[in-house]
Parts: sequence; C-alpha cells; structure tokens
Amino acid sequence: MARQFFVGGNFKMNPASRKDKVALVKLLNEAELDPATEVVVSPPALYLIPVKESIRKDIKVAAQNCYFKDSGAFTGEISPAQLVDSEIPYVILGHSERRTIFHESSEIVAQKTRAALDKGLNIILCIGETLKEREAGETAKVCEEQLKAVVDVLKENDWSKIVIAYEPVWAIGTGKVATPQQAQEAHKDIRSYLSTAVSFAVAGSTRIIYGGSVNAANCRELSTLPDVDGFLVGGASLKPEFVQIVNSKKL
Ligand code: PGA
Repeated sequence: MARQFFVGGNFKMNPASRKDKVALVKLLNEAELDPATEVVVSPPALYLIPVKESIRKDIKVAAQNCYFKDSGAFTGEISPAQLVDSEIPYVILGHSERRTIFHESSEIVAQKTRAALDKGLNIILCIGETLKEREAGETAKVCEEQLKAVVDVLKENDWSKIVIAYEPVWAIGTGKVATPQQAQEAHKDIRSYLSTAVSFAVAGSTRIIYGGSVNAANCRELSTLPDVDGFLVGGASLKPEFVQIVNSKKL
C-alpha cells in the first residue's frame, strides 16, 4: 500500500496575535494545494477551535500536546477526551521542545500516546537525536530507544494512527537541514527497527516524515527520498512557502 504524502505545520507558540492567525488561515484557504498530500496544521491550544472552524475542510488540525488523564486537577493540561469532543483529530506528541524544555521522558510520551489512541486520536510522534548523540554515532540507538517506549504499549493495529516524525534536534529551528543522505539513512533505520520490533507490514505502511529546517528550497529533493513520506514544518509553516512544501511532490 502506498504511503500518502503528509505535511504538518507545527506553529509552536505562534502566531503572536489573532490577527496573524486569521491571515495565515486565509493564505492556506486561498492556496492551491496538492490534493494527494495529507495536510495538518497545529496551532496553539487557544486557537485550535477557531482554526478548525475557519480553515478549509481538506486541512486537518492537530494539538501540540495533551495529557494522559481524561479530566481532573491537572492545571494547564488538555485531555485526549477534550480534543476528541472538540473534533480535533490529531495530536503531536514527544516533540523535542516538550522533551527538553518540559522534561518529558519517553515513558511519559508513550503513556500519552496510549491515552490518545484509546480516545481515537491520530498521533504525530516525534523522535530524534541531539548533535552530541549524532557525533557519537548514536542516532539509530537514540531513535530506537525513544520508539521502543511507544512500541511497548501499542498493539499492531494501533500503528495505522501513528505518523512518526524524525526530527534531529540539531536541525530544528537552526537552518541546518539534514542532508538527503542523513535523512534517508535515519528513516531507513527507523523503518527497519519497526520491521523487527513490530512487523514487516507496519514498517511498510507507517509514514515517517522529516522535520528540522524544512523550507521551499530544500523540500523537493528530500521529498524524493524513498523512506521520507513528508515533513513536519516549524518556522516555514508560518510563511507562504508552506504551500510549496505541501506541494513538494509537484515542484
Ligand atoms: P523548524 O521546526 O522547521 O522550524 O526547524 C520543525 C519542528 O520543530 O517541528
């Protein structure tokens, strides 16, 4: 089965105002987007519902995080059940900014993934190594460890709801994109790990997208790599060039 090309826009804690958010939605609503690409945008929690209500129906909306409990005394958190009730179909989990700035361990990410799946959410699951780990030759090992925590709590049929985002930490927001060779190698290793740890079928059908300084100038070449099934875009998702990234298969 062919893996549908996937492009996610991770707005992070942007845009800075409701006015800018409206302008961004307008830009996307008026753009010509490749209908073959699955497009998901992830605004801050405060804007999830207004974006969902104003954006074209062929663009889906994702939360940037959620907690693993259904409800209760967890100040500042949002539950998977609340996302589902608000008709938000996707959630990003395990982003490196959550792992590093907010100290989320792979076990917490796995617990959140399990809870989100149990409520029916689709997940963009982020993994990736730091520069120090890459330089120590530990890229594959780190990605496997981060993935293993999730593999341990998932059943085989859960994987149809997971998109893996390989995002080397040194490439995020730095302008230092992975070379096509680095990206292909990491994606191939992740796929081969899935084949061993889960199944050959899951390895073949799971989308593995690349994130880290993707822009209009580098997306075309990366999109042609056999194991790169799309992108998770940060900075460039706030700009008109996001449209070209969505259309990278056609550039
Ligand atoms: P960037 O961020 O495109 O700004 O590097 C990617 C991400 O963090 O998902």
